[in-house]
Amino acid sequence: MPHRRQPRTAHEAALLKRSEALLPAGVRNATLNPDYAMVVKEARGARIWDCSGNEYVDYLLGSGPMLLGHAHPAVVAAVRAQLERGSNYLMVSEPAIRLAEAIVEIVPCAERVSFHSTGSEATSFAMRLARAYRGRSAILKFEGGYHGMGDHALMSNQWTATPRPFPEPVPNSAGIPESVTHEVLVAPFNDIETTSGLIETHRERLAAVIVEPLQRTIPPRPGFLEALRSQTREYDIPLIFDEVVTGFRLALGGAQAYYGVTPDLCALGKSISGGHPIGVLCGRADLLGLAGRAGRAAGSPVMLTGTFSANPVSAVAALACIEELRKPGCYERLAATGRRLMEALQATLDRAGIAARVGGEPSAFQPWFTDREIVDFRSTQSADGRLSARFSEALLEHGVVKAHEKFFVSTAHTEDDVAWTLEAFARAAERLRETRSRP
Ligand SMILES: Cc1ncc(COP(=O)(O)O)c(C=O)c1O
Repeated sequence: MPHRRQPRTAHEAALLKRSEALLPAGVRNATLNPDYAMVVKEARGARIWDCSGNEYVDYLLGSGPMLLGHAHPAVVAAVRAQLERGSNYLMVSEPAIRLAEAIVEIVPCAERVSFHSTGSEATSFAMRLARAYRGRSAILKFEGGYHGMGDHALMSNQWTATPRPFPEPVPNSAGIPESVTHEVLVAPFNDIETTSGLIETHRERLAAVIVEPLQRTIPPRPGFLEALRSQTREYDIPLIFDEVVTGFRLALGGAQAYYGVTPDLCALGKSISGGHPIGVLCGRADLLGLAGRAGRAAGSPVMLTGTFSANPVSAVAALACIEELRKPGCYERLAATGRRLMEALQATLDRAGIAARVGGEPSAFQPWFTDREIVDFRSTQSADGRLSARFSEALLEHGVVKAHEKFFVSTAHTEDDVAWTLEAFARAAERLRETRSRP
């Protein structure tokens, strides 16, 4: 039976009203359209329920973290057992030590590890560490890349309305000090010629190059990451991979294992701990050492701490995730589910005569409503954002939740979930076709 979303109940409407009154910045939802706002009641596996009793197949997955699905029994059991022993010590604990050992074993660049609470902390601290190492300030990032909420990170990301000529950054928030804009250079993703020219010109100023190896859902062109790696190595400019999305998602070793390019530093978060707050900065021992003994010996250690850093609840959750993800066939099944969804989505949109390119990697992909090839931020600007929003809304009508742009896939998505989703694809595409043909 095709699924159809039921109207909002008075109870959910009242809850939304209370949240809007009190949480001006914090009300996040699956779409920006208030008609589709919901209050979540609960989630299990790949399903999520709103407070009006509607059931959805979930591809938002808490913005990615629920790689094993919601309330995975192994994660719940590990967390439950840890809660009985206390949830925050500040001091190091055995779960944190075991998790650091596991990360060093599975993430190629990780010789040393620093634990934090969010991806934004991990990327900001990575940039700070690199600045301390080089004694310089400037960071090169890529247009359209997202690195969280730090001042240096919030420049020329995917929400940039009007890009400026390279390498001039565009701040993505009010309240960022003007001085920060002089410390960030912006380059075009996947364009190694322009990027290497910028690195060459600014090599005496650059403290780091930071990149999402899979930029949002745009895969790197063959050779792009390799060329970035060799040039940054030549000039001893630390290369930071922001693997907050890709860590444990593309492979247990992240995008660096998947694409075969090892950075100097790496930020992890989201998918590694089954929905528990975490940020991990890992990388070269000499760089991480600046936050410890080597930094103290030099008279000025790099400060990288936080009250909830290395908390044992997130650590045991991450260890449980690693154990699950190590099971044979896990990544093959995840990729097979994602590939099926990508192919079905492309075929459905093609059949409906809607120009779209479904791109990305199987566990994180999105439809771009354009007939242009998507290789960088400027090519994404050719896509029809309104159509994309309407598609998300139509999917919600038919019981599928996704992020504004992308679909995250989990190991919990079953055959039933896929069948439900394919039905929703067909109906949502039909709806787009109808609304487009109206005058
Ligand atoms: C690539 C990337 N880096 C950093 C972040 C920031 O992580 P957090 O939201 O945990 O601060 C995000 C969050 O979406 C992200 O996608």
